[in-house]
Amino acid sequence: MRRVDLRSDTVTQPTAAMREAMATAQVGDDGFGEDPTVARLEARYAALVGKEAALFVPSGVMANQIALRVLSQPGDVVVAGRNQHVVEFELGAAARNAGIQFATLDDRRGVLDASAVAELIAAEAHHRPHVSLVCVENTHMPSGGTPWELAELRELAGVLEGRALHIDGARLFNAVAATGVSAADYAAPATTVMSCLSKGLCAPAGSLLAASAELIARARVERKRLGGAMRQVGVLAAAGLIGLETMTARLSEDHHRARRLAEAVARAFPASSYDPGTCRTNIVAFEHAAPSQLLDALAERGILADTIGPTRVRLVTHAQIGDEDVDYVTDALDTLTR
Ligand SMILES: Cc1ncc(COP(=O)(O)O)c(C=O)c1O
Repeated sequence: MRRVDLRSDTVTQPTAAMREAMATAQVGDDGFGEDPTVARLEARYAALVGKEAALFVPSGVMANQIALRVLSQPGDVVVAGRNQHVVEFELGAAARNAGIQFATLDDRRGVLDASAVAELIAAEAHHRPHVSLVCVENTHMPSGGTPWELAELRELAGVLEGRALHIDGARLFNAVAATGVSAADYAAPATTVMSCLSKGLCAPAGSLLAASAELIARARVERKRLGGAMRQVGVLAAAGLIGLETMTARLSEDHHRARRLAEAVARAFPASSYDPGTCRTNIVAFEHAAPSQLLDALAERGILADTIGPTRVRLVTHAQIGDEDVDYVTDALDTLTR
């Protein structure tokens, strides 16, 4: 039976070019700042997002947590979307690691309303805690991989009155592929920006956090405190470099395939009111009354899907999903409901 794994783009395998680059990577002790491949990767990402410096970290969660720690103090308010990864999918890490409290806003459209953020900032003058930071997610995973429009991001940045803005860009390059906005233009209004190498870009591990040189020096200390300093990690950075250099260009293929799945989902589950037009990148996220039954029925056909809420199902395309896999899944969805 065919196996089609749509649970996440994190299931991607490193490419042959990555494995070769890993085998031959020049490495050193990154604890002493002596790994030349890590240095190249950090410089490359910093250049792509137009920041002074970057830091290679083990995971996207750690990149977000370090951003919280360098941009806020315990007790501060961090504004974020109700469903964002940093709020809902990091197992309370923000409370544990940064001692902040979230003020969460509606993010069903994938974006935050600038006027709602401005209201929270204005509330400071009325005995409310200090808002130090706003976090956005681009693309926004739970709403179905929604990319931010640059104008909306700039509008949001315009109301912050000097507060910091962090972009959780775990899938920033998907947003770039979908909108044509460059990574640097997206990152320009932000204080810090992070991206994952181990999702659509196929590297086996690692994320990058970029900001000013001063903030990245502080981020380096926080990485050490969280136990994320690594040694001859150029073997991973080498794969990450291939991801940044060669894998971003193919992301729109994943987007086309996700769109085909989105249309099949809308046909199969009209009760979900799912609009396939909202699928602009590689994630199809839709409401379903009985997700575990659906996941079981798909699994019987070798199709793996996942849930991101009690009634929310997610299908994610990536480099290991081809057109024939999509044909197979759309056929299965069509027959499931017949
Ligand atoms: C939007 C977003 N941010 C952060 C992360 C965390 O990345 P990691 O799994 O590498 O810790 C994820 C992972 O799925 C994500 O989707």
